[in-house]
Amino acid sequence: MIKVSAPGKLMLLGEHAVVYGYPCIATAVDQRMKAKVTALNEPTFELEAADVDVHEYKKPLTEIGIGDIPKGAKFVEIALQNFLQKYPINGGVRVETSSEFSSQFGFGSSSASTVCAINAFSELFGVNLSQKEIFDLSYKTVLDIQGKGSGFDVAAAVYGGTLYFVTGGKVIDPLAIEKAPLIVGYTGVKADTTTLIKQVAEKKEKNPEKVERIFQAIAKLVDGAKQKMLEGDWERVGKLMDFNQEYLRDLGVSSEKLEALISAAKKAGAWGAKLSGAGGGDCMIALGPNDKREAIQKAIVEAGGQVIDVLPNAEGVRVES
Ligand code: MEV
Repeated sequence: MIKVSAPGKLMLLGEHAVVYGYPCIATAVDQRMKAKVTALNEPTFELEAADVDVHEYKKPLTEIGIGDIPKGAKFVEIALQNFLQKYPINGGVRVETSSEFSSQFGFGSSSASTVCAINAFSELFGVNLSQKEIFDLSYKTVLDIQGKGSGFDVAAAVYGGTLYFVTGGKVIDPLAIEKAPLIVGYTGVKADTTTLIKQVAEKKEKNPEKVERIFQAIAKLVDGAKQKMLEGDWERVGKLMDFNQEYLRDLGVSSEKLEALISAAKKAGAWGAKLSGAGGGDCMIALGPNDKREAIQKAIVEAGGQVIDVLPNAEGVRVES
């Protein structure tokens, strides 16, 4: 039996553009997905994932990836299918997952559980995959299910820390930064990432030059933010977040609720604030001075948000015992 855990993530800058070959900056957060994986003598796959309402799910290994798979079981099941295609095993596996964060927040619970599963299979069956191999197999799993996505969430779960990341893992650079003075507000609305990615794709189809210009501008400010983060100039990073938010508004992925929380945070003294992730809901993030932290959090709550107490720069996937 093996226990592993992987962190959730937050996008700091560069969402959407990163789907099209541009860079982003993301951070791993200290709320984790956990998995306990046990080898079985029988060639079966068993899954217990209470968080996503999957209870005592069981099927023969020969039927992995086949038939109607419940939504909550998909990522672990396809992860197992991809693992078995490369590394056949004798017997079967039982996976039990639990999460320290709600799957509603947009912290990347699906990617984190995929990464937990691949890492646990690798350890349990003595394959000893490298971080990049865990990334590649997990990213393939996410693409098999979702069809589109940059893979930044998978990278955050594998490597942890704060990453400068380019689409598909072309670049995965850990940034040696001081703790970011980050404040996170949840809108109470679950974002539909697939639909939002599609909306941006449609916009790009209709208006390729304009959208490409927006992506290029976002890429430029991501590069600027990387530099400022390394220098510890969080005030300037905040300003760059504001510019990023303007471009996200232009792309049409912000929402009234996100705008209300962002504007409340800024009025209360944040250096900058923006949506984080696909948009349409999920979380907003703000950077601000320590002496304004409480006021910013209070303003987010008064504007109808929920402050989520997370620390950035958390450790990547790890074996717990
Ligand atoms: C969603 O959290 C962020 C997007 O950039 C999609 C992705 O990078 O996979 C919209």
